[in-house]
Amino acid sequence: MFEGPFSESIIKRALEKGLIDIHLHNIRDWAPGKHAVTDDTPYGGGGGMVMKAEPIFLAVEAVLGLSPITAEEPRRETPCPIILLTPQGRPFTQRVAEELVEHERFALLCGRYEGVDERVREHLVTDQISLGDYVLSGGELAAMIVVDAVTRLLPGALGDPTGASDDSHSTGLLEYPHYTRPPQFRGWPIPEILVSGHHGKIEAWRREQALLRTLAHRPDLLASAALTEKERRWLAEQAEQNRDG
Ligand code: ADE
Repeated sequence: MFEGPFSESIIKRALEKGLIDIHLHNIRDWAPGKHAVTDDTPYGGGGGMVMKAEPIFLAVEAVLGLSPITAEEPRRETPCPIILLTPQGRPFTQRVAEELVEHERFALLCGRYEGVDERVREHLVTDQISLGDYVLSGGELAAMIVVDAVTRLLPGALGDPTGASDDSHSTGLLEYPHYTRPPQFRGWPIPEILVSGHHGKIEAWRREQALLRTLAHRPDLLASAALTEKERRWLAEQAEQNRDG
């Protein structure tokens, strides 16, 4: 599953440049017995299968070099965050990506089936992250998305030296619109201002567009965005005009 996303584009280049290192481990390799069983039916009944605690504990302990975690010897300091991908986790946002990029390394644990044995949550992981309010078939896609969002924050990962600083969400707002050649496409022109050569005005237009776009599509973001008083007043006027119009 990981091969495609990790062998293309920004992640591929980051791996080649040695900016990141990714190690994949199959939990099944730590499942005891000939059949390497990683799941079982839930206590208490109900549908679906549950991932067993033992292979997960063994895998994480082996990979991170931890001594066995038990009720008598609970997990102490971990060498890095151990993050379970689950729809029950805290929402993954640009802020969380910015938090993770500060760590030398982190471990992403991908659940499958109906879920994982609760003792993994209680006694093994240090954090739980959700991609959003929907259910995926497993944590793998979520893990790849986390790796992608974090990798592009590393200095040198993007071709553009300004990096990810203008991206949607890094400023707390949605990004302004982009245009490239041709200036006329099927009768639709680009905004005149972008070819005016007036950098100050272009910056001001972009900021205004980012604000309007955020107001239109994600007004919830405005409450915590870094806005000036003037911008807040202007947005309130725009919102009012939208209501009246
Ligand atoms: N695994 C299944 N659904 C998920 C979600 N929404 N986020 C993270 N991991 C998941």
